[in-house]
Amino acid sequence: MTDGHNPPLTLGIAGFGTVGSGLIRILRENRAEITARTGREVRVKSVLVRDLSKARACPLPDGARLTDNPADLLDDPETDVVVELIGGTEHAGDLVRKALCAGKHVVTANKALLAEQGNDIFALAAEKKLHLGYEASVCGGIPIIRTLRQALAGDRLDSLVGILNGTSNFILSEMSDKAMDFASALKEAQTLGYAEADPVLDIDGRDAAQKLYLLIRLAWGAEYPYSAIPVCGITDVSPIDIRYAREFGCRIKLICYARLHGDDPQHGGIEAGVCPALVHERFLLARVEGAYNAVRAEGNAAGSVFLHGKGAGDLPTGSSVTADILDIAKNMPPDNTGYACPHLPAPARVIAPHESFSPHYLRLKVTDRPGVLRDMAAILADHAISLAQVIQKDDAAETSQEPADKAEPNTVPLVLMTHKASDDAVHKAVDALAASPFVRESPVRFRVLTGKTGALPNLRAGA
Ligand code: NAP
Ligand code: HSE
Repeated sequence: MTDGHNPPLTLGIAGFGTVGSGLIRILRENRAEITARTGREVRVKSVLVRDLSKARACPLPDGARLTDNPADLLDDPETDVVVELIGGTEHAGDLVRKALCAGKHVVTANKALLAEQGNDIFALAAEKKLHLGYEASVCGGIPIIRTLRQALAGDRLDSLVGILNGTSNFILSEMSDKAMDFASALKEAQTLGYAEADPVLDIDGRDAAQKLYLLIRLAWGAEYPYSAIPVCGITDVSPIDIRYAREFGCRIKLICYARLHGDDPQHGGIEAGVCPALVHERFLLARVEGAYNAVRAEGNAAGSVFLHGKGAGDLPTGSSVTADILDIAKNMPPDNTGYACPHLPAPARVIAPHESFSPHYLRLKVTDRPGVLRDMAAILADHAISLAQVIQKDDAAETSQEPADKAEPNTVPLVLMTHKASDDAVHKAVDALAASPFVRESPVRFRVLTGKTGALPNLRAGA
């Protein structure tokens, strides 16, 4: 249905998996709303897959053909937009470049591709004056790209903090609330369509880092090299630490953070990272559960803006893809990077670990003898780290991963919360502790998220 004047917008969709199926369902079920908003029909002409014989989650769109030949999208003069939902970087990169070179707009959900090849692809899209929509690549159904590119465009942003990976948040929530083991929770996330084709990207933090890279670029118009982002995933988060975190009134979350130092990214610098962190229950981020994501942006004019929503899955992600398609259908001018300059963004100064400060949680297994607390505090003091709280449990078995009868005798767990200390200092102190004779297991350490003022929330343990 059109108004008789506007020709339909014709899509070639590459990928008929989780996100492709979500998009196809939305285009069918919300057809009337889409036509009302754009004044034209959005139709799918072809859907590209690898395996033509595979069963699909929903029927093909009316009139569309299933193909395993990319040329059916790329060489078709009627196709206005190529929607890349195949994932990976090699074939997807090839498809996106060829589509742009053929004069077709591109919409993608592929953060891995944009983190790896974004500079070239954004430049090509700018040169060809075409849309490169990527709302779905960060935080599934949350409109974070639009928010940074448009709604907060008048602000100077101080920081971004968020939960950007649905799979790892789902796993941590299941481990925390249902005492589910890591492997079963991951399997469930895969069944629900949240995980990447290679779920290692989700649990080792790389998927979240790819998204953070894109957000930094939008927030500050600066190039913070993806390879410079310190990344630690959730594989070392154990039920013991989840329990101790609760004693401090905290949850453990895979946190992404980026903060501007000084007045601009080039001279002041940007501090960024992805790591599991203790988040106090008073913070909204602590209450982000399951596959939900959230981002807190601090602007110098808008103040604190908090976005929360489904970070993965067929329909939420399909919703973001659809919104990008609708921008094209409405003939909006491309505004892919949010900045007027079509060239590479200027490189940001990367804040080094000795300039990055945070409180830390440490868990040690130590020999139960007089003077251990003193020796441990001396090592921390040698690295200019001061203690905020210490918990010592009587029963080694309580915090051991071993069953009670196998727990090492004459050892006790020590759990510490430090005041703010540099990442570098904590790292070196942990190495020194690990090498000391009274520490019996590799120490565990996590950052503790602080509020806007950098203050440590009132922690409950020992109270
Ligand atoms: P998926 O379920 O594995 O689906 C991938 C689809 O692409 C399949 O239909 C597959 O065909 C097709 N495909 C893969 N390689 C191809 C190739 N070389 N040529 C032709 N077709 C190919 O993946 P997904 O979860 O939908 O994810 C797609 C993209 O969205 C990824 O970039 C992912 O990072 C991103 N994303 C996913 C989510 C989510 O919640 N799942 C959220 C945000 C962003 P066959 O079916 O024939 O194998
Ligand atoms: N695998 C990703 C996640 C999909 O779990 O967040 C959304 O980008």
